Amino acid sequence: ETTLISAVTLLFEKAIAQAFPIVPESLEKSRWLVVQATSDAKHGDYQCNSAMAIHKILKDKVVSHALAGVADAPKAPRDVSARIVECIPKNKVLLKTEIAGPGFINIFLDPAFIAESFAKILKNGPQPPASQPQEVVVDFSSPNIAKEMHVGHLRSTIIGESICRVLEFCGHRVHRINHVGDWGTQFGMLINHLRTAYPNFHEQPPNISDLTTFYKEAKKRFDEDAEFKEASRTSVVTLQAGDPYSLQCWKALCDVSRIQFQMVYDRLECAGLVEQGESFYNSRIPDVVKELTAKGMVEESDGAKIIQCGKQFPLMAVKSDGGYGYDSTDLTAVKYRLQEMKADRVIYVTDAGQSEHFEMIFHAAKRAGWCEGGARLDHVPFGLVLGDDKKKFKTRSGEVTKLVDLLDEAVTRSLTHLRERMNTEGSTTQMAEGDLEEASRRIGYGCVKYADLRQHRISDYQFSYDKMLDLKGNTAVYLMYSYARITSIKARAGVKLQDLANVLPSVQHPKEYQLVLHILKFPEVVERVADTLLPHLICEFLYDTAEKFNDFYRDCHVIGDPLQSQRLVICEVVAAVMKKGMSLLGITPLEKI
Ligand code: ARG
Repeated sequence: ETTLISAVTLLFEKAIAQAFPIVPESLEKSRWLVVQATSDAKHGDYQCNSAMAIHKILKDKVVSHALAGVADAPKAPRDVSARIVECIPKNKVLLKTEIAGPGFINIFLDPAFIAESFAKILKNGPQPPASQPQEVVVDFSSPNIAKEMHVGHLRSTIIGESICRVLEFCGHRVHRINHVGDWGTQFGMLINHLRTAYPNFHEQPPNISDLTTFYKEAKKRFDEDAEFKEASRTSVVTLQAGDPYSLQCWKALCDVSRIQFQMVYDRLECAGLVEQGESFYNSRIPDVVKELTAKGMVEESDGAKIIQCGKQFPLMAVKSDGGYGYDSTDLTAVKYRLQEMKADRVIYVTDAGQSEHFEMIFHAAKRAGWCEGGARLDHVPFGLVLGDDKKKFKTRSGEVTKLVDLLDEAVTRSLTHLRERMNTEGSTTQMAEGDLEEASRRIGYGCVKYADLRQHRISDYQFSYDKMLDLKGNTAVYLMYSYARITSIKARAGVKLQDLANVLPSVQHPKEYQLVLHILKFPEVVERVADTLLPHLICEFLYDTAEKFNDFYRDCHVIGDPLQSQRLVICEVVAAVMKKGMSLLGITPLEKI
């Protein structure tokens, strides 16, 4: 399935190549083939803005030589456009073109083509853009053992999951990898605390329900007690040497954390995350360091082994105490993913604070030749979550908010909202008591996800229950209500889906045309998200869909109208695409609210 924009672009590519064969030879395609959606329907549906760049090339000396003897060499960009338009191959896509201003080509699509393409969605469901299937590793969520998952990990989980869903929809094989922080020097302190505070732990394992408190106690002792500090150092060494008792302590700590992480994943409907934490790479690190050394990338510096990547600080391949750290692990992990997992693309979803770290890792991976097959490495950075007061997100008492509490609160508030609406005079919200709980969960989690995804991920965003649950705002509830409204129109019409099988949508009314055209752009939005890894583009698309549907529904009667079937086709497809779009964000809409 090709996208609408690529179908249009292809026509212009052919036209330009035929009109000016010299152009493709003398400039990159992205410079001379510029086709984009218009922002104003007056200027058509798409616009080709190639004429200025092409005119410039033709004016270029070398080229005018080549053109010498051609009597009608174009004098102005408008002439260039006219020549392009003459060369557009015969097709079913375009209705007409107009040359405007200094030489823009306004492109109007053929309504018959639009209607037929739209009816295909009714038959086949929303389709992804065409793409070559790839092996993709997405490293996301990745919290740290014995520490509470914080809102940064929540963002990573929500954004990462959405990216995975988009890539899967595009037909790629996605490996969801949880690069859990389950190794490192902090374990010396944790094990030592476990060993001394819970001496008979191997007979009777302590119930460490609150690992954060445990972590704080251990840290306090580490900072205040020199003897404890020294013993912790020894514990790290024994753990690294594979001492069974230390490993047992370590495993116990990991298990407790895992249960807590899983509670969050279950709530967020985030399935299929495979834990491949830092410790997974331990045994492989020495060989990687050897390889990088043999490739001449490693330098000695104050007893450490470092890799310079043109940044202020180098990567630490081996620390001065001989140990391995975050950098050594990520160097090894990226090689493993590219070479053992045979990834065509590796994606890392973390806060923007780690951008430089990943730039260096990618730099080193390329220099080592691990990307030779053309593999692509992407860091997906995101901003901070801020509280209502625009400061870093915390509870009133200044404690870091537990994710589970935060998610619970969203659900509780959703439930309150639903009950309020049900008790409001004139409200259409009707729901059986038994369905309320599930509904408030879907709304609550949906709203948390959407509030996170709707902004460009690089910007910090302010966490506000009131805003994210606002029925009239750009929120998941707004989308969910719009969706439920469409399903209720379908239900009221009482028409069976199979009765619409061969019906084409009506596209005569401008509101119909705009809505139908917009829906046809879904695959190109998905394509852009798969490339840029910016899920907010899907949110924008969905919000526009709801707005355009409301415009349509206000101006065009559906039920009882002579065009009822043609308009029900529109409702049917809009609902299907909205549902698909929401599912790409990890949101499951309700059929009825
Ligand atoms: N555990 C890290 C943190 O909490 C994130 C790990 C991201 N992945 C990676 N391969 N470094 O910040």
